[in-house]
Amino acid sequence: MRQLIVGNWKMNGLHSDLGEINAIAASVAMRPPGAEIALCVPATLISRAVMTAAGRLAIGGECCHAEIEGPYTGEISAEMLVDAGARCVILGHSERRSANSETNSYVAATARAAARAGLSAIICIGETPGQHIDGTAKTACRRQLLGSVPERSSAQAIAIGYEPLWAIGSGKTPDPDEIVDMHTFIRRCLVEHLGPEGHVIRILYGGSVDGENAPTILALPEVGGALVGGASLSADHFEAVIKAASGC
Ligand code: PGA
Repeated sequence: MRQLIVGNWKMNGLHSDLGEINAIAASVAMRPPGAEIALCVPATLISRAVMTAAGRLAIGGECCHAEIEGPYTGEISAEMLVDAGARCVILGHSERRSANSETNSYVAATARAAARAGLSAIICIGETPGQHIDGTAKTACRRQLLGSVPERSSAQAIAIGYEPLWAIGSGKTPDPDEIVDMHTFIRRCLVEHLGPEGHVIRILYGGSVDGENAPTILALPEVGGALVGGASLSADHFEAVIKAASGC
């Protein structure tokens, strides 16, 4: 499968930033379709971002609720994201797992909701700094993966975002051999969990990806793309990552 690059704008973005989305879409349109590019933005921006991107760049959401509709004040369903024009959604990001107490089973329920609505999902996993130091990163990621990825998930429906929490927004990334080791381990867990389909699901690396490190990271075995926070906020910086994935 082609590499998948997903920008994550988090709680950033106003009407005045649509020009940046337009510039990102233009840079995607300019390149041969060597990679799939998506930009996940706050729900308030989705429909305007979809109009601005004009189909050249997939627009996505940053979370969704498990139910279709109902008495859940402040929540947004997967169907609502689709209605706004979203094509994908980030699920179980570590910031939501910690600040909103999202559990593995909750993330799995939202992933089933995304599949029900026809959204592709980027399901995030990743170890805490403590788990990184005490050598339990793999155990932690395996538990998250088995608990958060619904059985019978397909490579069309999901990708895994592996984001070590200590690398998010810190400017630090694991060494390339650590990334390969972790992605190879995640691959094994996917096959254990999903059978042959586990061989083809993309595993994205996330955490301080930028234009400088993207060429190295994206060339590593078992890296199927990247989840990009800070560097996706500016068209210039995100373009450098898109270039690395598209090969030009
Ligand atoms: P970062 O964020 O690229 O700013 O480290 C990545 C993420 O949280 O998805």
